[in-house]
Amino acid sequence: MSDYQTITVERRGKVAILTINRPDKLNALNKTVHAEGVAALNELRKDDEIRVVVITGAGEKSFIAGADISEFDGQTPVTQRDLFHEKTFFNTIDAFPKPVIAMVNGFCLGGGNELALACDLRVCSEGSRFAQPEINLGIMCGGGGTQRLTHLIGEGRAMEMILSGDMIDAETAYKFGLINHVYPKDELEAKTMELASKIAEKAPIALQLSKEAVKFASRSNLDEGLRREVDLFAICFSTEDKKEGVSAFLEKRKPVFKGK
Ligand code: COA
Repeated sequence: MSDYQTITVERRGKVAILTINRPDKLNALNKTVHAEGVAALNELRKDDEIRVVVITGAGEKSFIAGADISEFDGQTPVTQRDLFHEKTFFNTIDAFPKPVIAMVNGFCLGGGNELALACDLRVCSEGSRFAQPEINLGIMCGGGGTQRLTHLIGEGRAMEMILSGDMIDAETAYKFGLINHVYPKDELEAKTMELASKIAEKAPIALQLSKEAVKFASRSNLDEGLRREVDLFAICFSTEDKKEGVSAFLEKRKPVFKGK
């Protein structure tokens, strides 16, 4: 794995932990983080040993406190559009073929919340806080917030978060369905790794196709989605892992999936 300035990547068995590492700036997303995040994911995509990626923030206080506001000066509509092009960190996570879990450990604001929304699962520590505070800067979401947040928690709740800019606490985020699990701070990492390791033992191709099918649900109508699901389901029947899964069940043993 390459050397990065603003992120670290640690491998623990089949799970990679990608940490945004700017704790003195509450892990705000600057241009380098975006570029390095995309580069690291492109490396992890090709690494057959890695089956699940966990994204988190360094330090005790923050997951990601949003876009790096100090980079906003001097930006123009053209530079901002260029930064948030199709292959952003957010969209690279969204299209990543392996499951990605956001492990939220504190402030999850603006682009930080948008990054968490691009992940497949979100878990957080008690005391974490969530907001889309762009409105307070006289701007709006640009990393997918108006779309992914609305799909996930519904228009009324998303609208209030986006128009008020107010923070919500972990319990409210859980109640809204923004977060899958809330854990005590000292258990967050162990519980997240437990979840990641469990998923990492599943069949990689079936995981990838399941992720694609679920994501398609918010991008299509029901009939198109059902057709897509059947096509992807059918592909599973061409895999060695399907044979292994079925044999293991019939032989009353644990399957060993190879991603083939
Ligand atoms: N961009 C750039 N720097 C940021 C940042 C951001 N989004 N969020 C925090 N920082 C920096 C602060 O400027 C400060 O740097 P300094 O020590 O060099 O002055 C450092 O991180 C610590 O932040 P600070 O504001 O002192 O911490 P706090 O505990 O008092 O407040 C927040 C925490 C998250 C409430 C506050 O930092 C904040 O509101 N940040 C901006 C959040 C935001 O609007 N994000 C969306 C951007 S579109």
